[in-house]
Amino acid sequence: MEKFETNLAGIQLEHFIMNAAGTCKTLEGEEGVKRLIKSNTSAIMVGSFTLEERTGNSGNVYDGRKGLFSLNSMGLPNPGADYYREHLPEMVKISHEKGKPLFVSVAGFTPDEYAELSFLSLKGGADLIELNLSCPNAWQDGQQKHIACFDPLLVEEILRCVEERVGQKAKIAVKLSPFSNPSKLNEVAQVIGRSELVKVVVSMNTFPNAFTYNESGKPLITPGGGLSGLAGPAIKPIGLGQIKQLRASLPDRIDLVGVGGIVTAEDILDYLRVGAKAVQVATIFLDRGIEIFNEFLFDLSAKDII
Ligand code: DHB
Repeated sequence: MEKFETNLAGIQLEHFIMNAAGTCKTLEGEEGVKRLIKSNTSAIMVGSFTLEERTGNSGNVYDGRKGLFSLNSMGLPNPGADYYREHLPEMVKISHEKGKPLFVSVAGFTPDEYAELSFLSLKGGADLIELNLSCPNAWQDGQQKHIACFDPLLVEEILRCVEERVGQKAKIAVKLSPFSNPSKLNEVAQVIGRSELVKVVVSMNTFPNAFTYNESGKPLITPGGGLSGLAGPAIKPIGLGQIKQLRASLPDRIDLVGVGGIVTAEDILDYLRVGAKAVQVATIFLDRGIEIFNEFLFDLSAKDII
């Protein structure tokens, strides 16, 4: 698999395909990691996790049309920081025994929470922390929580707090939402580029607040009146556009990871062509299971990698 080797933030990866955050069922605790270590993912991404335990949203929270799109509003179900404090070292150990780095996605509701979650993840042995600056599905009393990445000053403050807590050398990634406003993308890229803390940018998270009806004319997704994150094949051209713009805006020392609508090996190559060093998969992994990594690698082995 030599021709597929890559590295992110100096972490060597056997190849460039891994699972995206939200796909390793951490509510089931270590079981999620135990399933993924049997797969051919190049790294294991767990989370997003929050300081407090969350049961997540209720009702129909994940649905869609296979081959076209998926909508989700899980509401960050996760067992919380105490669980990770206790179990992360074991998750790291079993991942490393299989030669897979363990990455942790964290979602704070304040800059200090991002700092605390990053600190405890690094202490637990995580190889890379992905700051999820882009969860669209946290609703409280009918109000949607702000999506951090759309506020450059807030992004700056989060990065400052995390750096103060874990030091500039820590392996930190940030995950962004898709930006429809190119100037805003640039503005946030400038903030990130000025920070020596960020080594990797992951783009993109789901497109926020999409909506569709089910066959009975009701909102397909229950929480948020049906407003939910759009993922799957429908968003791939948006994802490629984000990576292309981010590659042009960010300093070369920042690695890019492409996510969004990957279904085929050719989709992966498209992400590499626009500047990603690795990719993550969510919808296709949830649809097809852990075999998807082998299938991609098999298909890629027949192609020329640029
Ligand atoms: C959820 C969805 C996201 O897109 C995300 O980044 C984090 C959490 C969710 O609904 O749980």
